[in-house]
Amino acid sequence: MPAIQVENLTKRYGARTAVDDISFSVEEGEIVGFLGPNGAGKTTTLRILTGFQPATSGRAFVAGYDVFNEGIRVRENTGYLPESTPLYREMRVHKYLTYRATLKGVPRRLRREYVESAMERCHVIDVRDRIIGHLSKGYRQRVGLADALVHRPAVLILDEPTSGLDPNQVRDVRDLVKEISVDTTVLFSTHTIPWVEQVCERVIIISRGRIVLDGTLSDTRKRVAPWSRVEIHTSAVARDAMEVLDKLERVFFVENLTIGERTALRFLTSKEQVNDACADAEDALSSISATMGEPIVGDAMVEDLFTRLTRGSEQVVVRA
Ligand SMILES: Nc1ncnc2c1ncn2[C@@H]1O[C@H](COP(=O)(O)OP(=O)(O)OP(=O)(O)O)[C@@H](O)[C@H]1O
Ligand SMILES: [Mg+2]
Repeated sequence: MPAIQVENLTKRYGARTAVDDISFSVEEGEIVGFLGPNGAGKTTTLRILTGFQPATSGRAFVAGYDVFNEGIRVRENTGYLPESTPLYREMRVHKYLTYRATLKGVPRRLRREYVESAMERCHVIDVRDRIIGHLSKGYRQRVGLADALVHRPAVLILDEPTSGLDPNQVRDVRDLVKEISVDTTVLFSTHTIPWVEQVCERVIIISRGRIVLDGTLSDTRKRVAPWSRVEIHTSAVARDAMEVLDKLERVFFVENLTIGERTALRFLTSKEQVNDACADAEDALSSISATMGEPIVGDAMVEDLFTRLTRGSEQVVVRA
C-alpha cells in the first residue's frame, strides 16, 4: 500500500464543500508538493489525513493505517506541522521536544537520543535552552519541524512549512525538508512554486476542493513546454490593455504585472505562434492608440500552469 492513499474524500462545512471527492496517493519515499490558491482545501485535506478533523465521506490511509478507524496508529506514524504551529511558547526548546516525544509514545530509553537527533537535524541545538516564545519565527518553525519528526515517523505532513519566513529561512527549511525526505515520505502544502520545483518529485494541484493536476515534475514541465510566456510594456492603462489582449485568439491568460508607472503585462501563447501573437498584441494596442515595447519572450514555467489551472473558470481547457 502507498504511504498515503486518499479515496473519494469529501469534506463539507454546511453548504460549503471544502474538499470535493478527491483521490490521490503518495508512494513510500516520495516528496510531493500540494499546491493550490487560498481556500482551495489544502489545510482541510491535511488535517483529515492527520486525524485532526473528520471527513464527510471517503476513505484515507496513512502509513498503512485507516485514518478514520486507527487514528492513534496514524498519529504514531505521522509527523504533522500544522498551518499555525501550536507550540507551548513558555517552554524551553529541548524540554518541549522531550514532552512531545513522550506524548507521541517514544520509549523513555530512546527519548534523549530522539530529541537530540531531531534538534540536530533541524538545526536548533544552539537554541535548545531558550524559551520558544523568545525565538524568531524561523527558529520557531524549525522547532515545529523538530516536533513533527521527533518520533521518527514514516510519513511527514507539513502545512506551509515556509509561510512567513524570510528568503534565507525559506532556503534553510527547504534544504531541511529535502534532507528529511531521504528516508521519510513527505507531503507538504505551499504557495511557493519554485520551492516545489526544487525539492519535489511530484506535484498535486488542488483548486476549489478538486484536484486539477497530479503528475511528476517532469510531466508537468513537458505540459508547459509548448508554451511561451511573453512580457510586454505598453503606454495603455492596464485595464484597457488587458481588455483588448483578452480578445485575441493567440493570446491567453493575460496578467497584470504593473508595479510602477508603466503598464506591464504578461501573457501566454503557443511557442510556435509567439511572433504572430506579439504582432497581434501590438496591433490590438495600436487600435486603442497605445504603443508596445519590445516583448520579452521566455519559456512557460510550472507557475504558469498553476495560474491556468487555478484561475478563472475551473477545468481550464488548454488552448495551446
Ligand atoms: N471550520 C470551517 N468552517 C467552515 N468553513 C471552513 C472551515 N475551515 C475551512 N473552511 C472553508 O473550506 C475551504 C478550504 O479551506 P482550507 O483552509 O482547507 O484552504 P487552504 O487551501 O488551506 O487555503 P490557504 O492557502 O488559505 O491556507 C475554504 O473555503 C474555507 O473557508
Ligand atoms: Mg491552508
